[in-house]
Amino acid sequence: MRVHVADHPLITHKLSVLRDEKTASSTFRELTRELVTLLAYEATRNVRVTEIDVKTPVAWTKGVEISTPRPLVVPILRAGLGMLDGMTALVPSAEVGFLGMVRNEETLKPDTYAERLPDDLSGRQCFLLDPMLATGGSLAAAIQYLFDRGADDVTCICLLGTPEGLAAVEAATEGREVTIVLGALDEKLNEVGYIVPGLGDAGDRLYGTV
Ligand code: PRP
Ligand code: URA
Repeated sequence: MRVHVADHPLITHKLSVLRDEKTASSTFRELTRELVTLLAYEATRNVRVTEIDVKTPVAWTKGVEISTPRPLVVPILRAGLGMLDGMTALVPSAEVGFLGMVRNEETLKPDTYAERLPDDLSGRQCFLLDPMLATGGSLAAAIQYLFDRGADDVTCICLLGTPEGLAAVEAATEGREVTIVLGALDEKLNEVGYIVPGLGDAGDRLYGTV
């Protein structure tokens, strides 16, 4: 598993505003969109492209276009939905699938309540979107859904992660082609499974339920 933690002052600045408990949902949504666009730049570094010929007003030249089969972007509902616009702005030709998961706040295990993915993902580059990688249970289960449909190249974009969550995803995906791009690697999980210092419940903060 490859892990890339963003090291850029603009990302750290935007994350600092996002973390602030006083930040309103409307600002939180806008910053999430902006952060995803910045992180997606790194996450799509190895997106497959095909060489094409392009005629400029002056001459023919070589260019590239995103290869087919098109990349698949999968937000993990609900909080991952806040990241979708930022990702599709950068990769408009991507297809979009959906996974709905909610963590049981007592067992901390994910429960899947919705799934809309293409049946066959062989040869597809897949991008999972979820702002929070806490215990890693939700992300590991989501990656497994993609592997079960034949995916062999999965990149996850998360705003915040923990060392415990990264270790859990690594153990669950050993030997597979998985990349995780993080806005920041936080200190730890607390006793109730929240990221410390984190930003609280990402879904609640995005959709105004706090
Ligand atoms: C949050 C978050 C992740 C999950 C992370 O979603 O968006 O999906 O928790 O926790 P984990 O790494 O311990 O599995 P939540 O289950 O709260 O659902 P929501 O997006 O509907 O708010
Ligand atoms: N899910 C969240 O939204 N936040 C956390 O800190 C952990 C799980």
